[in-house]
Amino acid sequence: FESLGSASEASASSSTHKTSKVSIVGAGAVGSTMAYAALMRGSARTVALYDINASKVQAEVLDLSHGIQFMPMANVLGSDDVEVCRDSDVIMVTAGAKQKPGQSRIDLAEATINLVKTILPPLLEVAPNATYVMVTNPVDVVTYAALKITGLPRHQLFGSGTVLDSSRLRYVLARELGVAVQNVHAYMAGEHGDSEIPLWSSATIGGVPLLDWPGINGRGPLTEAQREAIANEVITSAYSIIEGKGATNYAVALAGSRIIEALLKDENRVLPVSTLVDNYFSITDVCLSIPTVVGGRGAAEQLRVPLSNAEYDGLKSSAQKLKEVARQFGY
Ligand code: 2OP
Repeated sequence: FESLGSASEASASSSTHKTSKVSIVGAGAVGSTMAYAALMRGSARTVALYDINASKVQAEVLDLSHGIQFMPMANVLGSDDVEVCRDSDVIMVTAGAKQKPGQSRIDLAEATINLVKTILPPLLEVAPNATYVMVTNPVDVVTYAALKITGLPRHQLFGSGTVLDSSRLRYVLARELGVAVQNVHAYMAGEHGDSEIPLWSSATIGGVPLLDWPGINGRGPLTEAQREAIANEVITSAYSIIEGKGATNYAVALAGSRIIEALLKDENRVLPVSTLVDNYFSITDVCLSIPTVVGGRGAAEQLRVPLSNAEYDGLKSSAQKLKEVARQFGY
């Protein structure tokens, strides 16, 4: 295991759920839906939305507030003033450029990096002890730049990474194999984007290694061609959604809520968040997703999962691509 932080440098994340506060930066499709998901799931006691667009953030918060009666106990706040984020335990950064049909996540790098350069320093002033989770794309490059901008330790600032992509993979595998999604354990790793890779060699279905899966109910094991088609469906699914409705919001919001809960409830969940890696199977100085233990100390431990040669090569080239993009923007 690769340790990302020690108890002594732990952030002041509250493990007492009752007083916990999460702030969501950006009241667009992703941020507003994440606030809704966090409220519906009872992820935090206080949910604050912050956006520079005052009328948009006020409208979103009013609409959310009208539903409080039907939710677990919570407070909703919202403002165009960064003060609304004061003393947050967790800050989710969703603000950034919108991906248009035909654009890749990487195409948004310049605009988003410039944005986080402006928004992070004031956030740090009002919430120096919060755990920061970058959600905005290209999330791995943005996370790397954000670490440089803030100087925060890597367990305290990380990216949502491939938590969403992994839930897409589990959904597709569950559908193809005829087993509940909760019994499918499989991760997408590397970039949250086009160069990501499925970790087939560590995937299991009800404890059976996926690569040994015999098939049930008249369905055979997955062939290599079927696995390739599944990976392709996962990698391209955001493009299909953006084509059809302009943005993805529901699943990313739920993935974000999952991360919030892992932090605030000190759950030690294994989630493929995007963290700075330092000699992870010789991959160094880049942010990318690998299964990581997330709890009250933030992104605490990166797991050294078994990798086939092909998976190792895939992870290495994903890292190379992400490094090149970061360097291109001076990071
Ligand atoms: C997603 O994967 C576009 O990154 C966003 O849904």
